[in-house]
Amino acid sequence: MDTHPAHVLGIDIGGSGIKGAPVDIHTGTLLAPRHRLLTPDPAKPGNVAQVVTEIVRHFDWDGPVGCGFPGVVRAGVTLTAANVHKQWVGADAAALLSQATGCPVRMVNDADAAGMAEMTFGAGKGHQGVVLLVTVGTGLGTALFVDGKLVPNTELGHIQIEGVDAETRASDAARKRDDLSWKKWAARLNDYLHTLERLLWPDLIILGGGAVKKQAEFMPLLTLAAPVVPAQLGNDAGIVGAALAGVVP
Ligand code: BGC
Repeated sequence: MDTHPAHVLGIDIGGSGIKGAPVDIHTGTLLAPRHRLLTPDPAKPGNVAQVVTEIVRHFDWDGPVGCGFPGVVRAGVTLTAANVHKQWVGADAAALLSQATGCPVRMVNDADAAGMAEMTFGAGKGHQGVVLLVTVGTGLGTALFVDGKLVPNTELGHIQIEGVDAETRASDAARKRDDLSWKKWAARLNDYLHTLERLLWPDLIILGGGAVKKQAEFMPLLTLAAPVVPAQLGNDAGIVGAALAGVVP
């Protein structure tokens, strides 16, 4: 496999699947079909490192790797783990995965990764001002940009609304868990987004994550003042954004 510096292996660690593909970071295109493996259960760091290594081997990869993680990441260390094993809290994930794979691995929050991909190649491209991306899936992830610059690790999926963590009411997992109609769930998502809008006054809201495949079912029901648009890179945003983060600055 070509390991030209413009090519980075992007890997997206999620609650149910871990997927990756080599990415041309100048165009945002995948250089090979994505490879997806199941997230091990329990998703402890050591088990996940094995799966990440399998993905690296699948592509016969020997260059930089960027890895999206569903929690706060600072300087390669994972600091929260809402939907993965608590052993990740405080783990030096970048060091662990670099050692396991033999490649230089850089870590980034998964929503920040998706946001960077959308701002560079997708729905946020060229947008100045305040742009808020919300990924709606197992969790609620957020990425906040000011004039194109990321404010990292905004954990706005965990704001409390009426004493309840927003993610537990308005994520796609909550829709499935509570067996809600699209209309009922859209009302919850709408409340959540209105709360964010009152606090941040974004100029643009981008919705990403798994739920966006069904955007026709709920996007017309949202009543935000800011324009709300679907993410354009779909399922690939996490991989492409992780690859962008994988480049040594
Ligand atoms: C985590 C975030 C993550 C989001 C989406 C939340 O539970 O706290 O860090 O971005 O899920 O995976």
